[in-house]
Amino acid sequence: MRLLFLLPVALLSALSCAIPYDEYILAPSSRTLYPVSVHSSNGSVSNPESLTASPGSSVFQDDSATAYDFQNNIAGVVTLTIGSVSDSDSDQYIGVTFSESSLWISNKSSDATADAGKDETLWFKLDGPGRYTAPREKERGGFRYMTLVHNTTGSVEVTAAEVHFTAMPHWEDDAIGNYTGYFHSDAYTNQLCTIDPNYGDALIHIFQINASISDATNVTWYSNYTITNGSSALVDGAKRDRLVWAGDMAIAVPSVVFSTNDVVTIENSINSLFDLQNRTSGQLPYAGRPIPLVFSFTYHLYSLIGVADHYLYTGNVDYLASLWEQWKLALSFSLSFIDDSGLMNVTSKSDWLRFGMGGHNIEANSILYYTINQGIMLAGALNDTEVIPLWQTMAEAVKTSANQLLWNETAGMYTDNETTTLMPQDGNSWAVVSNLTLNSSQAESISANLVNRWTPYGAPALEAADAISPFISGFELQAHFLANNATAALDLMRLEWGFMLDDARMTNSTFIEGYSSTGELHYAPYLNDARISHAHGWATGPTFSLTSYVAGIQLLSAGGRTWRIAPEVGDLKFVDAGFSTGVGFFAAKTQITDDGGWQIDFEAPEGTNGQVKLPSSTCTGRVLLREANGKVEDVAIDVTKENAGQVGAVDVAGGIWTAKLTCE
Ligand SMILES: *[C@@H]1O[C@H](CO)[C@@H](O)[C@H](O)[C@H]1NC(C)=O
Ligand SMILES: *[C@@H]1O[C@H](CO)[C@@H](O)[C@H](O)[C@H]1NC(C)=O
Ligand SMILES: *[C@@H]1O[C@H](CO)[C@@H](O)[C@H](O)[C@H]1NC(C)=O
Ligand SMILES: *[C@@H]1O[C@H](CO)[C@@H](O)[C@H](O)[C@H]1NC(C)=O
Ligand SMILES: *[C@@H]1O[C@H](CO)[C@@H](O)[C@H](O)[C@H]1NC(C)=O
Ligand SMILES: *[C@@H]1O[C@H](CO)[C@@H](O)[C@H](O)[C@H]1NC(C)=O
Ligand SMILES: *[C@@H]1O[C@H](CO)[C@@H](O)[C@H](O)[C@H]1NC(C)=O
Ligand SMILES: *[C@@H]1O[C@H](CO)[C@@H](O)[C@H](O)[C@H]1NC(C)=O
Ligand SMILES: *[C@@H]1O[C@H](CO)[C@@H](O)[C@H](O)[C@H]1NC(C)=O
Ligand SMILES: *[C@@H]1O[C@H](CO)[C@@H](O)[C@H](O)[C@H]1NC(C)=O
Ligand SMILES: *[C@@H]1O[C@H](CO)[C@@H](O)[C@H](O)[C@H]1NC(C)=O
Ligand SMILES: *[C@@H]1O[C@H](CO)[C@@H](O)[C@H](O)[C@H]1NC(C)=O
Repeated sequence: MRLLFLLPVALLSALSCAIPYDEYILAPSSRTLYPVSVHSSNGSVSNPESLTASPGSSVFQDDSATAYDFQNNIAGVVTLTIGSVSDSDSDQYIGVTFSESSLWISNKSSDATADAGKDETLWFKLDGPGRYTAPREKERGGFRYMTLVHNTTGSVEVTAAEVHFTAMPHWEDDAIGNYTGYFHSDAYTNQLCTIDPNYGDALIHIFQINASISDATNVTWYSNYTITNGSSALVDGAKRDRLVWAGDMAIAVPSVVFSTNDVVTIENSINSLFDLQNRTSGQLPYAGRPIPLVFSFTYHLYSLIGVADHYLYTGNVDYLASLWEQWKLALSFSLSFIDDSGLMNVTSKSDWLRFGMGGHNIEANSILYYTINQGIMLAGALNDTEVIPLWQTMAEAVKTSANQLLWNETAGMYTDNETTTLMPQDGNSWAVVSNLTLNSSQAESISANLVNRWTPYGAPALEAADAISPFISGFELQAHFLANNATAALDLMRLEWGFMLDDARMTNSTFIEGYSSTGELHYAPYLNDARISHAHGWATGPTFSLTSYVAGIQLLSAGGRTWRIAPEVGDLKFVDAGFSTGVGFFAAKTQITDDGGWQIDFEAPEGTNGQVKLPSSTCTGRVLLREANGKVEDVAIDVTKENAGQVGAVDVAGGIWTAKLTCE
């Protein structure tokens, strides 16, 4: 390995006005949406196709209904235009029902927002011709299908069925698709989860729902609870809960940064959690309002990770400083649960709705270890170094004890706690992500064991009755990369995210909250399958992994003032990604030739500096590193049989570079 220090040179942005790969961006180009096709019709409905793509004329006679398909999951407020009504004296109505999945298309009800029953139909009482717009609290945050229902004798002519798209409320109407980052991007899910904070779920049935209403088709619902300050909020799911959850943000925030860099929304959401902090104990809420104050050991830490992520991706030290005293108080609260064993004793079961969270739990302690280390990084950035020695000691104790008490050498995995043989997906993935593992062979063994559990539908979470959790699988992806098995991570993306995109019951545009390891759309923690959210930001883990590990653009500090380019392309031959932070634009494109040579074209802002870790190579030859303007001399590194898998890092300054390995 040779270390080279090169001078910064004038920066030329590779980003032209066109947004790369915009054919993959699902965000609509206008806020006014019409159905794309007719899914099915019932009873006497004339010419239902006329309402697709534009206004038209469709007459609903007697009991009848038409289900429309928008072909993407969307969000918004519906407006019907009525042409004529047969007899305006008698009661004529058109009802509207919504569903994300084709499973719950119905002329009786929508899919669900509560854990029992189905949501009531939105009815429009018709007084004659005209436009009828739903009240704003009947905004529906996620639906692909919309059914129009006529429920009595007589007839109604509908001349338009349109939806005003409400997601990304703070972006201009013509800019919803103007992403700042690119990869074959699944980030639309997070845009649907970016809502006007005045329209969160009012949760009117919280703690009330029981099996006795499980068949009800009239469960009331309102989206009208104010959940944060500001004009946009990042919530867990588009249909529900439409609330701020810190755990979900651990996956959603990096995805947002790498696609739209919508930092203000992230801040509104983090602030809403810190606003609820108990300033005596330091306790942070499980979720934003109106969820009642409950303690979750892990979600408390995820709020802290949210602040650390914000700093890492923006480099905004002022925002960090504004929350730092609260941050330290909150970490002290977590540290107060560390007992004689050196581990935190979890005494509240609230987590991502897995079962058996308690005691010296491996997931919670791995997240604690990770958070303490983030704290050490942040303390350094703020020059508040006096806390560091204590935190280092405690982090070391967590690591040592977890390995003594919870590592099972025979199995090659960590147990959930010391009184069980269950080896969870969440804790094992997090142990690798947090570097709680002592050496690379532990990480490799965890990775191999997790691979062995996969079903034809994805990676099961044993700690949640074998549910498939796209949330925890997002951390599993990272664990495979950190265990140096990019192939395992890419295989899991194709298996699990491929299923989510392709299955006919899915929206083909957004990622689901959870399902079963046998492929049913049943999520173990819920009684009510119709409740599952099909647009959940926590399911967007590949955005981070593809950008950070496959394309290999890694921010190491403060918005990317230091960075690393380290592509791991697995079986791919071509990878291209880029994104912007407050510091500037980052991009990397890696191409592999048939003989095993490769070329990485990369770019980082002027004034930054970073490291290039060259990918493993199947050929020997010579690497040339060249700056775009040729102002700097070429740099040569020999790739030999000895260093092929680990061709070292070179230190370079921000600029536009090409690193090329030509095989001998
Ligand atoms: C149609 O639905 C409306 C709204 O729920 C209801 O008031 C009306 O009675 C229904 N009409 C019939 C004939 O069921
Ligand atoms: C978004 O991009 C489109 C197409 O490039 C452009 O016409 C429009 O002005 C952009 N909008 C904003 C607000 O940047
Ligand atoms: C829903 O309908 C059932 C009867 O079908 C009724 O008992 C219940 O009160 C209704 N609930 C609401 C919220 O209207
Ligand atoms: C939400 O809307 C319902 C129906 O209009 C209303 O009864 C309720 O008070 C509203 N809740 C809030 C928090 O505004
Ligand atoms: C805040 O924490 C203190 C100290 O643990 C406790 O006494 C108090 O009840 C808490 N306040 C609330 C509102 O929970
Ligand atoms: C230990 O883990 C098992 C398996 O998840 C769980 O059933 C048990 O409740 C956990 N123990 C505690 C104290 O939470
Ligand atoms: C954790 O704390 C609870 C409540 O104080 C206690 O009952 C339990 O034994 C502790 N668990 C462990 C593993 O020490
Ligand atoms: C921390 O100290 C360094 C070196 O003295 C200084 O450049 C930097 O501005 C300080 N940072 C803060 C947040 O005070
Ligand atoms: C370790 O794992 C092996 C294999 O799964 C199992 O047989 C054994 O009981 C475990 N040991 C402990 C102490 O849990
Ligand atoms: C992970 O921990 C090991 C020691 O257990 C240490 O040598 C290594 O540097 C750590 N890796 C990172 C990325 O911090
Ligand atoms: C990497 O994972 C794949 C499964 O995707 C597996 O077949 C392969 O053996 C793993 N490689 C290593 C070195 O463990
Ligand atoms: C998903 O959408 C793509 C492109 O819009 C289309 O080619 C594909 O057939 C759709 N797949 C399913 C299962 O609907």
